[in-house]
Amino acid sequence: MDVLVPSEQTETGQSVPDASFNDLSFFHASEGKPLATPWQVAMTRADYLAQFDLPKGMLLDCACGSGIQLAAYASRLKQPALGIELDRARAVASCLNLNTVARHYASFDQGWHRRSLVVSGDGTASDAIASAVGLESNSVAVLMLDPARPRNSRTHDLDEMQPNLPSVFEAWKPYLASSSRGPCIVLDLSPRLTQELRDGVESIVDSFWPGIERTWTWMSRGGGRVDRLELWLGGVATPNISKRFVRLSRTFGGEDTVIEQEESILVERVGLQTARRNEWVTILDAALVESGLVDAWLSEQLSTASDVRWADASPRRPRIHHNGPLKDDVHPFVVASGRVVELLDVPLDEANIDSIVATALDNDISALTIRCGLDAALQPRLQGSIDRQLRNRQGRRRAFLTRHTTSNHLLLCVQYPQNSDA
Ligand SMILES: C[S@@+](CC[C@H](N)C(=O)[O-])C[C@H]1O[C@@H](n2cnc3c(N)ncnc32)[C@H](O)[C@@H]1O
Repeated sequence: MDVLVPSEQTETGQSVPDASFNDLSFFHASEGKPLATPWQVAMTRADYLAQFDLPKGMLLDCACGSGIQLAAYASRLKQPALGIELDRARAVASCLNLNTVARHYASFDQGWHRRSLVVSGDGTASDAIASAVGLESNSVAVLMLDPARPRNSRTHDLDEMQPNLPSVFEAWKPYLASSSRGPCIVLDLSPRLTQELRDGVESIVDSFWPGIERTWTWMSRGGGRVDRLELWLGGVATPNISKRFVRLSRTFGGEDTVIEQEESILVERVGLQTARRNEWVTILDAALVESGLVDAWLSEQLSTASDVRWADASPRRPRIHHNGPLKDDVHPFVVASGRVVELLDVPLDEANIDSIVATALDNDISALTIRCGLDAALQPRLQGSIDRQLRNRQGRRRAFLTRHTTSNHLLLCVQYPQNSDA
């Protein structure tokens, strides 16, 4: 075990600009780059953490990797960082990154930075580390863990995490300071954890701190993908909020879109029977559906959420049918929303594409996007044919084409809000 003082480390290797914020360049070692948290994600979390009344003390990351998340927390909260990293070269990279961030915020060798340390060692060796760095009981303000996981894991089993949750909790429990709502813990978990595995995480947590408050947070950078899944515990859980979904803004510093849900609400989902002309069809952000927060969001968006019929709740292209328009039709959670103007009883293939385009032209359509599952080779050919035929024609409305799940009818939907027959 080695205790490293960030300001005493000399730079080695080449730093690389952060993908989400080019103004900062970070050091990575031992192929740590793909493991590192993008600065935008790190700072979004730090801003969230900053709203809580945290105990005084160190911010402990017991598997700190390149130290990017830790540096974001420490600089934002102005509390000293204690990083622990098994791989020595990565521990040194963490020091260099803490220095970079401290310089960026003009606090090099001052305040939080002067008291920050990185230990190259095992993140579960709490007693040895505490005595090496002079850490007393109840002096860790926030414990965070972003464990290493095997690449290409299919199961995302909880015991694959390195270090694993029980050994980290066991080791650090006596060192955690307590807020009025218990200790402050942030777990950065695999975005692909199933409900069953999430329940498993909760029972491990409950075995150490029974009934501690918790907020699950899903983060997505768009494209329908869940990029991050976190569990915020105790003093950093949002009171009465069990789930949050954060759609990060496209650019660093832009506004994120957040939806929160109080206790789990059980909504009975109605499946789609028949598709009708004039009803609304909305294709939703798949990550929102995966997080389980879609019902909470729909109840905000539709005056009669009970009208919703689920055509496809599959993770790839979730789609609902509903009677009235969404309140916010250009919301980041909406892939496309429109009103059915035609039901076409033809297969979507090369033999029928001309007649489909003719129907689109009859409906004053200038652009038509295919939004249903198709053979990967056929899709660009059909879309290309549609685009070529509609180019230079006089249509005025945008539309999309989807497919009724059971009957195979194609639904031609004119996109809302340019829907002049609304
Ligand atoms: C996903 S990375 C952390 C990335 C970090 N959050 C960042 O922003 O750069 C997980 C790290 O845990 C380290 N690790 C695995 N087992 C450990 C242990 N027992 N103690 C300390 N670090 C460990 C790995 O070497 C790896 O660098």
